[in-house]
Amino acid sequence: MGGPLRFDGKVVLVTGAGQGLGRQYALQFAERGAAVVVNDLGGSFKGEGQSTRAADTVVEEIRAKGGKAVANYDSVEFGEKLVETAIKEFGRIDIVINNAGILRDKSFARISDLDWDLIHKVHLRGSFSVSRAAWPHMRKNNFGRIIMTTSVAGIFGNFGQANYSAAKMGLVGLSNTLSLEGKKYNITCNAIAPTAGSRLTETVMPPELVAALKPEYVAPLVLYLCHEGTQDTGGLFEVGAGWIAKLRWQRTIGAVCRTSTVPMTPESVRDQWDKITDFSEAIHPVSAAETTHHLIGVLGELDGGTGGGTGGGKQASSK
Ligand code: NAI
Repeated sequence: MGGPLRFDGKVVLVTGAGQGLGRQYALQFAERGAAVVVNDLGGSFKGEGQSTRAADTVVEEIRAKGGKAVANYDSVEFGEKLVETAIKEFGRIDIVINNAGILRDKSFARISDLDWDLIHKVHLRGSFSVSRAAWPHMRKNNFGRIIMTTSVAGIFGNFGQANYSAAKMGLVGLSNTLSLEGKKYNITCNAIAPTAGSRLTETVMPPELVAALKPEYVAPLVLYLCHEGTQDTGGLFEVGAGWIAKLRWQRTIGAVCRTSTVPMTPESVRDQWDKITDFSEAIHPVSAAETTHHLIGVLGELDGGTGGGTGGGKQASSK
């Protein structure tokens, strides 16, 4: 099974680390030898105001236990500044945990431009900005570990969270592409959808659940995914209460709704609907290339091809 997973010599930037999940990540990385940049803007859960107190408290906590940590108080919108703190204080950046978050829940009709923009700025643009600033350093070091924090609200949708769920699902797309672009530089990127008691969830969960779902039951997955020995990338995980599960896409075999002589019509779609939506023989596609390959196969069967590859109209299956 191997020994303890250590992070000696590694520099970790945790955004929104002044409390909740981010604080727990920062504490656990520091406990295992990493130098940690504790970033937190210190505003309200709706993204208003700012303060140095949240980040300072966690830095003091880490230092009191003999760990290495430094505070950064910039908003994640300004990723360069966060990474600059890591480089200035510790000389490198190895691991980025995109965790900072706010909520501005409203039913769809009541969402203002500000509610939409602020959520996207913090979650999606913030994770982009911080990761982009760290990327060249990771490439140069031929090592990097990035975590994107999505949510079950993004994956499945959630009443009153149109702004948040859109941004959170955007993070899955960002994570997927970074995992592809990072491969040749030993940079991995994974997305987690955590559930834990925090000031965000105390607005929607009963107090007993907030107390029971400890951030400690999420953090070890983040550490595992960010260890140098872990190569997994492009994953999407649900995690909470100590339970962890991986998600993936599923696609039906589908149906072609035309022939070489009969055109595609709304009626032909209707007539194939049961087959289009039948998951009994579903496969698990993992790349955009699979779709292109499949479509070239369909064209080959119906129209004599495009001069490209063949697919025989059958879907490639992947794990
Ligand atoms: P939290 O409110 O306890 O912690 C979030 C921290 O981010 C706060 O300390 C806040 O000051 C900081 N922050 C907010 N905007 C910032 C900005 N622009 N720049 C820097 N720091 C900023 O929340 P929690 O629950 O620990 O959430 C952490 C992440 O996990 C968030 O991205 C959240 O959306 C996500 N999440 C949490 C779930 C849960 O069950 N707690 C469920 C699904 C997702």
